[in-house]
Amino acid sequence: MSTTAVRTTEGLLAFPSTFWWGAATAAYQIEGSVEADGRTPSIWDTFSAQPGRIDNGDTGAHTTGHYTRYREDVGLMSSIGLSAYRFSIAWPRIRPTGGHGVNEAGLGFYDRLVDELLGAGIRPVATLYHWDLPQELEDAGGWTNRDTALRFADYAAVVAQRLGDRVAMWNTLNEPWCSAFLGYGTGGHAPGRRGHVGALTATHHLLLGHGLAVAALRAAGVTGQVSTALNAGAVRPLTDDPADADAARRIDGLLNRIFFDPILRGAYPADVLRDTEQLTDWHFVRPGDLATISAPVDAICVNYYQPDLVSAAPDGELDHGTPYPTAQGVRFHPTPGPVTHMGWSVDPTGLRDLLLRIRRDYGDRPLYVTENGAAYEDRIGPDGGIDDPERIAYLRGHLAAVHEAISAGVDLRGYFVWSLLDNFEWAFGFSRRFGLIHVDYDTLARTVKASGHWYRAAIARGAIEA
Ligand code: NOJ
Repeated sequence: MSTTAVRTTEGLLAFPSTFWWGAATAAYQIEGSVEADGRTPSIWDTFSAQPGRIDNGDTGAHTTGHYTRYREDVGLMSSIGLSAYRFSIAWPRIRPTGGHGVNEAGLGFYDRLVDELLGAGIRPVATLYHWDLPQELEDAGGWTNRDTALRFADYAAVVAQRLGDRVAMWNTLNEPWCSAFLGYGTGGHAPGRRGHVGALTATHHLLLGHGLAVAALRAAGVTGQVSTALNAGAVRPLTDDPADADAARRIDGLLNRIFFDPILRGAYPADVLRDTEQLTDWHFVRPGDLATISAPVDAICVNYYQPDLVSAAPDGELDHGTPYPTAQGVRFHPTPGPVTHMGWSVDPTGLRDLLLRIRRDYGDRPLYVTENGAAYEDRIGPDGGIDDPERIAYLRGHLAAVHEAISAGVDLRGYFVWSLLDNFEWAFGFSRRFGLIHVDYDTLARTVKASGHWYRAAIARGAIEA
């Protein structure tokens, strides 16, 4: 294996020997056992129980049963050859101050999981917040309440004390855009609240929670890298008309720069503040907050699925369902080409462009792709196998885009497939399958799909087909 990204004489795209080959999951999506060992309800338990919120009325109450099957799952990771595994810790299992006291039994689960991973030679990558806010904190205002950010830091400190000597990388938050703009904006995600001001307020408090958690992790002396995972994207104008470029600027502001700028530059983008001034004066930003939010991180992690293509809507049409407070007069277009079962376009150039853009605008820094993958309608074949050539093509194409970015000098150090297992896909319930491993939800039997075997072969040779 090489130390850089190269094209070999056999026509392979080889990755650096230090590259992290990973897969990712999240607690509520895979664990089940929602009442075990003192776990208390999260906003997703509450939201899933409300009729009409989730396709088919599904909930994460049982899902893949990972909480009791984690040893088997680590064994499967080992058989694929993963060098890193990204999971999330359920705040309501630990619950410092979203409940009463520290719940030792909940901490014990992650302690055992981390040891199991290390025993199998797999780096543990832990996300502290993958959307399962303790319901008790939501009842006090959730992320629209500044106090939630402080409680998040308390929780981060407790977890860091326990796992800080063994976790290879920390993600404070997972996709805060979704928590803020879907959770408090459109209401399509838990806690299901609607309103543009709430979404902007939640954005700031999530960012503050990130900054306070970074400080808590540092204070605890964690040995791993400290980072956060943003669902960043390439936002492209439909034409080079200035009105389309302005539409792209506005969406880019609220998808990407509203997170990247405070974390990496210590300021909110001036155009975003201007674009939203009719809605709010951003009074929730207090002196000192941006210094907290911009505490140095060791890496930036991005989750990427598809690019956005936008234009100005000439009639200034208003899309009432939009998560974007400044999207009045913006129209979203499908990117031509294939789509996944989510209806998301398959376009690896979006990932390459995103990685190059982060380097151009925010400097040369370590990056990781902490999620990338695709849902397809997988079926078990007569021989019991699952043939998923579209997922293999998706993963190969996006790994080739990663290779291109590394070859162009981007310091990209690892890639995590979403997801290790089929799981509870939020508002879509179990109707969408993203896994490298198929889960039969009746028997909980796991079967490695063809894509999982393909990934194993790629990891083994440290390269993909060009
Ligand atoms: C992003 C989220 O982090 C993850 O939880 C979700 O399942 C995938 N994207 C696919 O939608």
